[in-house]
Amino acid sequence: MRASLESPKATPAEQSQAAGRAPSDALPLLRVLNVRKSYATPQGPVPVLKGVDLTLEAGSSLALLGESGSGKSTLLHLVGGLDEADGGEIILDGVRVTGQSDAERAALRRERVGIVFQQFNLVPSLTVAGNLAFQARLAGRFDADWQSELVRRLGLAGLEARYPEQLSGGQQQRVAIGRALAIRPRLLIADEPTGNLDEATGDEVLDLALDLIRRTGCGFLMVTHSTRLAARLNRQVTLASGVIAAS
Ligand SMILES: Nc1ncnc2c1ncn2[C@@H]1O[C@H](COP(=O)(O)OP(=O)(O)O)[C@@H](O)[C@H]1O
Ligand SMILES: [Mg+2]
Repeated sequence: MRASLESPKATPAEQSQAAGRAPSDALPLLRVLNVRKSYATPQGPVPVLKGVDLTLEAGSSLALLGESGSGKSTLLHLVGGLDEADGGEIILDGVRVTGQSDAERAALRRERVGIVFQQFNLVPSLTVAGNLAFQARLAGRFDADWQSELVRRLGLAGLEARYPEQLSGGQQQRVAIGRALAIRPRLLIADEPTGNLDEATGDEVLDLALDLIRRTGCGFLMVTHSTRLAARLNRQVTLASGVIAAS
């Protein structure tokens, strides 16, 4: 499976971004600097993130803890280019995410960031194989050898022709992790990925994910409210009152 470890060709967006890019070994994979975000409500804007600072090195994993409503998902959405910050800077892999256009953020999500949600979010009309390949094909990063390896390592062999509704929750989440890793992301982000699974299944899914993350060398940012699960990652930080309270 040596071929599957080689980097896929640079996509057009990567080539155009490469020009203005700092050498990636001089910078951490992810830098979040003084990031702020409010939501509009009928009573006026409600600040959720009030100046968040965070660093993640390539190949390392970070657990983001915090009470419900503390802004964990909000921060993950900003880092993954799903939403825009009000202020501050997010720099991923040498590219400044903050200030990017919608199209640039869409390219970032397609090509560099794998995202796993608590609700799995598989495409119901696609088989396991179709779901796994979905994002990678969109990004022009599909690699059949790598997909076969993901199927094998995630314990999905023999299930490729099934549809999501024919899978258990744990199996669906393993497909969602495979889909996110199929693009060989620089960063994998996961929002309470085991939140809908029983404890034993959640542990097993996290084990598989951590093993694959080590193999790909991507960074891993996981939101959880479980200190037990958080302890299995390299570092843990807590979001409280709109800032990172402890690291
Ligand atoms: N789209 C939105 N519009 C208005 N308020 C929101 C929106 N998304 C989240 N919030 C509010 O922002 C706060 C943080 O939400 P969230 O980031 O989902 O927290 P967590 O993931 O830590 O539970 C909550 O008070 C939530 O109600
Ligand atoms: Mg959340």
